[in-house]
Amino acid sequence: MKDRKFRVSEFIHGADYNPDQWLDMPDIIEEDFRLLVPAGMNSATIGIFSWNKFEPQEEQYNFAWLDQIMDRMADAKMKVILATPSGARPAWMDKKYPEILRVSSERVRNLHGIRHNHCWQSPYYRRKTQQINQILAERYGKHPALFMWHISNEYQGECHCDLCQKAFRDWLRKKYHNDMKLLNHEWCTDVWSHGFGSFDEIESPSNRGEHLIHGMNLDWRRFVTEETLDFFQSECVPLRELTPDIPITTNFMGQNMDFNQWKLAPYMDIMSWDSYPEWSMGRQQDMDAAIEASFCHDRFRSMKMQPFLVMESTPSLINWRTINKLKRPGMHELSVVQAIAHGADSIQYFQWRKCRGEGEKLHGAVIDHYGKEDTRVFQEVSRVGELLGKMQTIAGSDTDSKAAVLYDWENSWAIEDLQGWRSPRLYLETVYQHYKALRKLGINVDVIDEETPLDKYRIVAAPMLYMLRSGIAERLKQFAAKGGSLILTYGTGEVNENDLCYLGGFPAEGLMELAGLRAEEMDVLCDGEYNEIRLSENNKIYQADSYCELIYPKEGCEVLAFYTDDFYAGKAAVTRNQWKAGACFYIATRPEQKYLDTLYQQIAQEQGMELLWGILPEGIDLAVRRTETEEYYFIMNFSGESVQMPLPKQLQNSSVFPDDKAAKEIYLEKYGYIILKD
Ligand code: GLA
Ligand code: ZN
Repeated sequence: MKDRKFRVSEFIHGADYNPDQWLDMPDIIEEDFRLLVPAGMNSATIGIFSWNKFEPQEEQYNFAWLDQIMDRMADAKMKVILATPSGARPAWMDKKYPEILRVSSERVRNLHGIRHNHCWQSPYYRRKTQQINQILAERYGKHPALFMWHISNEYQGECHCDLCQKAFRDWLRKKYHNDMKLLNHEWCTDVWSHGFGSFDEIESPSNRGEHLIHGMNLDWRRFVTEETLDFFQSECVPLRELTPDIPITTNFMGQNMDFNQWKLAPYMDIMSWDSYPEWSMGRQQDMDAAIEASFCHDRFRSMKMQPFLVMESTPSLINWRTINKLKRPGMHELSVVQAIAHGADSIQYFQWRKCRGEGEKLHGAVIDHYGKEDTRVFQEVSRVGELLGKMQTIAGSDTDSKAAVLYDWENSWAIEDLQGWRSPRLYLETVYQHYKALRKLGINVDVIDEETPLDKYRIVAAPMLYMLRSGIAERLKQFAAKGGSLILTYGTGEVNENDLCYLGGFPAEGLMELAGLRAEEMDVLCDGEYNEIRLSENNKIYQADSYCELIYPKEGCEVLAFYTDDFYAGKAAVTRNQWKAGACFYIATRPEQKYLDTLYQQIAQEQGMELLWGILPEGIDLAVRRTETEEYYFIMNFSGESVQMPLPKQLQNSSVFPDDKAAKEIYLEKYGYIILKD
């Protein structure tokens, strides 16, 4: 299938808008339309959970309210992102067609209510969602306000009903060519009498039953991924047919692991995600939140190698963490600039107006219960609207990255499922460390998975690449052979894509040769327990935590650092192996950030990459977007303190964007930023 692609030509500034919650208060809706202008909005996302207002009784429809809203949106020159309503259903539907209701892994059928409570297979629900989507497409497909389709909302979860069990078995039959022997082999079911005699004996994983066959758990997650994709595609059928020119997206959650988000990417015209970093919990947490947010932005950009949308964010606070702090003044603008810097072409909010009741009544919104525009939050949103207006030349522009961090969904499933090592496993945390070391060099970084082509990179970090799939080992070898620098760590190359351990030594599939070593045993440390590494080069000592793998370098593999403690003191901890034109680094432990920062700096220098500031000051984020003629350097201060940085020679002819003054110095206030146009 051809990867679908769509880019906006101007930044979108919008919000989830729920006029259907205010139909009995027309004055409120009047106010909404008045306030769109001072808030600097050019878009609204409508209809996300509106099924009950579209179809209050079976086959009795009411679109009069939406007709009016759409017409008014068109008059106001607003772009409407129209949602399909499948995320939540009217009560009459669940009562009459209980097959829709999800069944938990304990095999208990849910009652009506909440959201995302539908079976992915239910034939009735598939028909019904197609039908309502078709009505929307017929009614609004040619409406001048319609800009984009927003399919459902934050797809998530799984269902274990009989329909899903049957579909799972059919999926397995197909994958294993109807061959039970093959399935039993790939799942290694000779252990604990786990062998199956026929596909009909197989049940989806459950804590009440089988959940220790790792190959089956992985297959279940893959099956849920395909079910989710299939449901998405089924929702899209009438939309693609009736409105082929209207782009389609669905809003993803950042780190939700229910299904492999990457597998849906080719079917989206543009990616969009809901970004809720945990700000205001202290200086260090702000810096960490900035790294986690930029990582997700970079990932959503890399999933289609094009700009993406921030479909939701809060202008102020959220309501679902234990502690829900306000964004400090200035943080909203800074986090908006960060999203744009990393490739976003929109800033949208959940939501336009605070609901009156239910769980989200205290969640942040552009308009408070107070109802007017003279609030701190409204004013900050309005300033963002103005700023985006001045930055339009950047909308739709590209990001060029020479470095990538590999963070693979299926690998993460396998790592979380393995029994052993230590908990928490720290896969994502370790990926963050490597990502941060690269970002601190002020270079753009893509976040890729095992299937992403590697040709355009000079540095690829692939921490904890425990499960090898999709020919990744071969591609990593080619990448290094052509001159790339590859960074591997402990726990690499242990299982194949069905979670069977490789025989003959780790890291397997030729990575032993590439890394120039064999990894033999994995020691782990408790939280708060440390070993150290000593560098061969200068005897500098760095702390190391959590994992200490025992590795045995072969001749020719250079040892960069040794362990200092425990029975493996003096043994190799970090190595570098020349591989044709490139090199493979192997980090057998989890060294403190400072060490990774200097190591990655050396690697970048070895690659001849130009680092404008060497290692950036702590808490500074730098990202570059590129149009055909200009480069835009976004320098952003999440450190919680003011920061002064030299203006590098290469940027001395740049101007400050969007004000167009000559760049003289880089002085960043707390939460400050500067954009340099070169
Ligand atoms: C998610 C949902 C929204 C809303 C927000 C609240 O992102 O998509 O409908 O519930 O959370 O933060
Ligand atoms: Zn089901």
